[in-house]
Amino acid sequence: MTNYRCAVIGGAGGRGSGWAREMKQWKSLLGHTIELVAICDISDIALQSKAEKLKVKAYKDYKEMLDKEKLDFVINATPHYVHAPIMIAAAEHGAHVLSEKPMCINLKQADEMKAAVEKNKIVCAIGFQHRFNPIYRGIRNAITAGDLGFVFQLNMIFHWFRTEDYYLNSSPVPENADADWEGWRGHWKTEGAGALANQIIHFMDQFLWFSPSPVQSVMAASRIARHEHVETDDNTNVIVEFQNGSMGLCQMGVAYKSGKREDFAIYGTEGALETGRGLKGALGVPKLYNDMRKGTAKVTHSMLERMGPKNLQLNKALFSNFLEAIVKDDRKIISVDVNEGRKSVEFMRGILLSIKEGKKVTFPFDDNFSAPELMRTFTEKSV
Ligand SMILES: NC(=O)c1ccc[n+]([C@@H]2O[C@H](COP(=O)([O-])OP(=O)(O)OC[C@H]3O[C@@H](n4cnc5c(N)ncnc54)[C@H](O)[C@@H]3O)[C@@H](O)[C@H]2O)c1
Repeated sequence: MTNYRCAVIGGAGGRGSGWAREMKQWKSLLGHTIELVAICDISDIALQSKAEKLKVKAYKDYKEMLDKEKLDFVINATPHYVHAPIMIAAAEHGAHVLSEKPMCINLKQADEMKAAVEKNKIVCAIGFQHRFNPIYRGIRNAITAGDLGFVFQLNMIFHWFRTEDYYLNSSPVPENADADWEGWRGHWKTEGAGALANQIIHFMDQFLWFSPSPVQSVMAASRIARHEHVETDDNTNVIVEFQNGSMGLCQMGVAYKSGKREDFAIYGTEGALETGRGLKGALGVPKLYNDMRKGTAKVTHSMLERMGPKNLQLNKALFSNFLEAIVKDDRKIISVDVNEGRKSVEFMRGILLSIKEGKKVTFPFDDNFSAPELMRTFTEKSV
């Protein structure tokens, strides 16, 4: 039995507090103990009170924490633009990293993260817990087993809603001190995009995981539909071509007060799957069958067989997978590693480039456009 010393960076924030609580709660997993040593956050007051409650050390500076504490792993739950520098610093200190989604905000950062993982031989997993949703696992397995025949069309509709306050009251970062609001969300330079980088990235990851072949090109259009004081995208449409001739369609945003939709529709020559309404996590399992149309008996049967364990706690499954890779010293078993995490960042950046250029983008492409350029594009396109 090994004792794993860990810390949560961004530990006073929404997601980070949750991770810190869970580290304390789970205590031991897979026959090993987990010791939450510290939390780190730039927000001083929240940091001190949360650290006191958890009875752990408090650090304002992640570099100081990495220097002083000998940590086996860190959980990185900070704003998107610091995912890469924090992950790389942790890797240089020999600490494994569970880094929140999106992996980072551009492909330069993604490639630096990949290099740091390889150089320091650490385990790095990206926070895509929906990969453990039994429904999604069943869908993916049915597709890869060939149950649907040749998948010629893959559609995704993602409708969520976020208020203006969600952006304007997000936790402050010093880098935005000269902007209208200091919060990290809704700024191109700190969030990396709006809905695309934050909420939709989960479902873009699923979309790419389901897709029968790598992306060949995207053609996208986007507007700020209703968030008057926010810089970034809240509604985007994308036509996708895959290398094997399949096509895809994505319509997604956080401008939808009309109700939540997280729908995938997958059409093959032998069968089709349509999922939706209620797919909010591990417990939405039966809905799939209510909503499934055209699924042949063969598909239904094999889907059931392929779903794996039900009622799974998704975060626990994500963390256990990360811990197992550390324990077994086997990076191949990580569900979303830096190579997989890079794919949704590439997809997002391809979409943003297509929006900026107003034309189809073929993969791979040069990712050398900046946050101010995206800001200009979206200012011109705002309604
Ligand atoms: N996997 C999921 O379902 C899920 C859900 C929510 C959030 N997230 C991700 O978690 C991350 C944080 O999101 P959130 O909603 O908790 O945001 P948040 O603003 O509530 O928390 C971020 C915290 O990071 C701190 N921080 C900022 N810069 C820092 C730095 N340099 N060093 C240390 N701390 C720093 C902030 O002070 C804040 O407390 C994002 O990447 C987000 O996409 C993932």
